[in-house]
Amino acid sequence: METERKKDMLSKKGLFLKYPMNYVFEEQRMVCLLIGIAISTAAFAVVNSVSSQSLLAGYKIGSDSISDVSVVSTSLIPRRITYELVDEANRNINAGGKVPLGLKKKKLRVLVTGGAGFVGSHLVDRLIERGDSVIVVDNFFTGRKENLLHHFRNPKFEMARHDVVEPILLEVDQVYHLACPASPVHYKFNPVKTIKTNVMGTLNMLGLAKRVGARFLLTSTSEVYGDPLQHPQVETYWGNVNPIGVRSCYDEGKRTAETLAMDYHRGLNVEVRIARIFNTYGPRMCIDDGRVVSNFVAQALRKQPLTVYGDGKQTRSFQYVSDLVEGLMRLMEGDHVGPFNLGNPGEFTMLELAKVVQKTIYPNAKIEFRANTEDDPHKRKPDISKAKQLLGWEPTVSLRQGLPRMVDDFRQRIFGNEKLNSGI
Ligand SMILES: NC(=O)c1ccc[n+]([C@@H]2O[C@H](COP(=O)([O-])OP(=O)(O)OC[C@H]3O[C@@H](n4cnc5c(N)ncnc54)[C@H](O)[C@@H]3O)[C@@H](O)[C@H]2O)c1
Repeated sequence: METERKKDMLSKKGLFLKYPMNYVFEEQRMVCLLIGIAISTAAFAVVNSVSSQSLLAGYKIGSDSISDVSVVSTSLIPRRITYELVDEANRNINAGGKVPLGLKKKKLRVLVTGGAGFVGSHLVDRLIERGDSVIVVDNFFTGRKENLLHHFRNPKFEMARHDVVEPILLEVDQVYHLACPASPVHYKFNPVKTIKTNVMGTLNMLGLAKRVGARFLLTSTSEVYGDPLQHPQVETYWGNVNPIGVRSCYDEGKRTAETLAMDYHRGLNVEVRIARIFNTYGPRMCIDDGRVVSNFVAQALRKQPLTVYGDGKQTRSFQYVSDLVEGLMRLMEGDHVGPFNLGNPGEFTMLELAKVVQKTIYPNAKIEFRANTEDDPHKRKPDISKAKQLLGWEPTVSLRQGLPRMVDDFRQRIFGNEKLNSGI
């Protein structure tokens, strides 16, 4: 036994003297393993600290926003994670809790679908003003490049002609999903396309938000309440919608879009926000889109009779576009999913509205009555208690203040175009 052990030791010694490396690897495997672990841990710590410093270096050498630092991110790292790295690095140097001078709030990259439209273009203005980078995706069905012309030279602004019915790959922090024709004239023009936009378009944009970890805001509508049996409408009211009517492509389309948003939220943890928008008016609305305010204003400016459908006793509430944009941004930045009614609770009959327009633009304008359209709701007025309480939001611009701002824009577009067309 003793001789065996001695022999073994001698052979190991011989092996060590002859092939030292082989001896170490074969006989001291545990020691090798431990040394390996120690080396990798040290290497990882060094690489980590170098990458945090390079993130900070990118921030400090004068890039004007944290999103510029995302050069270091790869498409595999969602931007939000990049921010967390940056924030973490900032926390390390801000151990005293004081924000060093010159450090700006992080800027976001925001996708606005339907951004060339009426509401979308005003939203883009506010986001750019805030310092965010904005990407607009629009198929220009009802939107116009002219609505965004003033941003074309801004490097923080990008625009793509794209139909949301097809998927698109973009890396963004927030998605405002507005793409959808909003006026009855436009959404009834091709109802199948309207419902495709609402269902497939929303699915595609939710898929994008899920992939990159972006927050997603859906612009739904008061039309989800249909011809409401409850007045004013609260968010908990489920609505009274005709599923087979001529407006269903829009009403039911938006209801499905809300369902999809909630299912992505509950099942796939996408951060969603839902706004139910009530009638909104303001500059850049399509001139002849059949919506009541744009109709009346265009008719009065052209000195034509104002057409009132039905007996004119149907009521609507009208919110000025800047109020809506403020509400959408508060909703996106806040902690509540919604749905939230965003509208002005001031209620007007169609006849009252026609009289305000008459008074503001052309007091001699006649009022003509026509047969009402199918499924036109009788009453619409938002209960905005929830938005007031949880978003601290309520409209501030009255119809009498907002209307003249819209009239200036319409006058310029109608008579500017007429001058152009007549070669003046
Ligand atoms: N304005 C309102 O009173 C009101 C009321 C309720 C809800 N909303 C909702 O707000 C959003 C914006 O409405 P708006 O008044 O600005 O309407 P709008 O028609 O002016 O804008 C919609 C935009 O979406 C684009 N678009 C339409 N289909 C598209 C598609 N398949 N792919 C890509 N782009 C597409 C249009 O070209 C347009 O630029 C809509 O989702 C609408 O349903 C608006």
